[in-house]
Amino acid sequence: MAIPTIHVGCGQFGLGRLQMAIKCKGLEPVACVDIDLETAHRAVQSLQGEGTAGLANRIYRSITEAREKNYAEACLIYTATPSHVGLVIESLNLGMHTLCVKPMACNQGEFQQIMKAHGARPGLMLVQGQNNRWNPAAAKMREWLRQENGIGEMLGGECRGWIRQKVNAGGPGNPPQADTYVEGLFFHSAACHQLDQLVAAKGLPKYVTAYVHRRSAPELDLTGVWGTAGGQALFEYENGAPFSYTGTRAAHADPFGLGSRWSGHWTFHGEKGDIRRDGGHLQMFRQGRVVDDWYLQDLHPGLGEDDRIQLDAFADALTTGKDREWLQESTLGTWILMEACNESARTQSKLDVNAFRRKITE
Ligand SMILES: NC(=O)c1ccc[n+]([C@@H]2O[C@H](COP(=O)([O-])OP(=O)(O)OC[C@H]3O[C@@H](n4cnc5c(N)ncnc54)[C@H](O)[C@@H]3O)[C@@H](O)[C@H]2O)c1
Repeated sequence: MAIPTIHVGCGQFGLGRLQMAIKCKGLEPVACVDIDLETAHRAVQSLQGEGTAGLANRIYRSITEAREKNYAEACLIYTATPSHVGLVIESLNLGMHTLCVKPMACNQGEFQQIMKAHGARPGLMLVQGQNNRWNPAAAKMREWLRQENGIGEMLGGECRGWIRQKVNAGGPGNPPQADTYVEGLFFHSAACHQLDQLVAAKGLPKYVTAYVHRRSAPELDLTGVWGTAGGQALFEYENGAPFSYTGTRAAHADPFGLGSRWSGHWTFHGEKGDIRRDGGHLQMFRQGRVVDDWYLQDLHPGLGEDDRIQLDAFADALTTGKDREWLQESTLGTWILMEACNESARTQSKLDVNAFRRKITE
């Protein structure tokens, strides 16, 4: 039976996710929450498909009110970023399993508050929503990195994230996006799309040394706020293997299309072989030959399918326990790693990721 779910946030991105929550098999949206009731009502009414009937009449201003009037076991949060911390805690305190789109928190203080609320209810599942790990190309890369007969122990790797992304600094009647004014949101909002795939496959590295690009690009509304434009990081895994990352929001070319730029260009070297990936094209090499070669679906249009798969995985983890720990720990791990990058860049130091994780989670 599908899990009764409250959907929070009916804005541009949130509405598309609501459509996918309706479409997925494992969840059943029973109520919505948005502070802008009128706009949300119009938006929800525009949705298609079975399960939409009456939903537009069950929109509330708060999760608490929605939960009082409707039975629900899970809550999906897709509101503006600075509101996440309060909404995640409210949802957990109401006893609901919670998935909040990245970034779940804007800073370490917010993340610590969330961990405290979750620590009081460890039986509830808490997930940071990350859609880029769910398409077939990302799944194939993860499979190759984890399987016995893949490239063997990872010896090193790299990822480049290359996108030209217009953020929104606001204006009359147009609230600014947190990405333009909250420090450190390059790693949390952009780099996380690529690096979540690494965390999902290889877990957290032992050390990180990172830098941010101090770049203003007024035409993209990048106003020079620290940590919002781009960044670089060098990770070191337990076995000493290095992995490097370079990404920017202000890229100047478009060689492979939006999807592949978000997905990243990757190389992995292992003791038995090597992997190259450009968006949906993946190749595995051994002894100088291509031994496996795939063109797979990369990001789906509007990330719809990616999120439908994610929401079904969330529901599956809740009903059958499948990948429950991996889903929770790896997505929260992505937040921790992105903040470790910010911390390293701020303090200009090589950071012990495990010690940092303990500091902000215990
Ligand atoms: N690939 C991705 O994962 C991806 C892509 C785009 C956006 N996002 C994230 O999704 C979130 C929403 O994006 P969007 O484009 O829908 O934003 P939006 O600004 O279009 O909509 C935000 C909605 O949240 C509502 N809201 C704000 N504060 C609220 C509160 N306290 N309680 C209830 N409702 C509240 C607003 O009324 C609005 O309807 C952002 O955090 C953004 O970073 C993720």
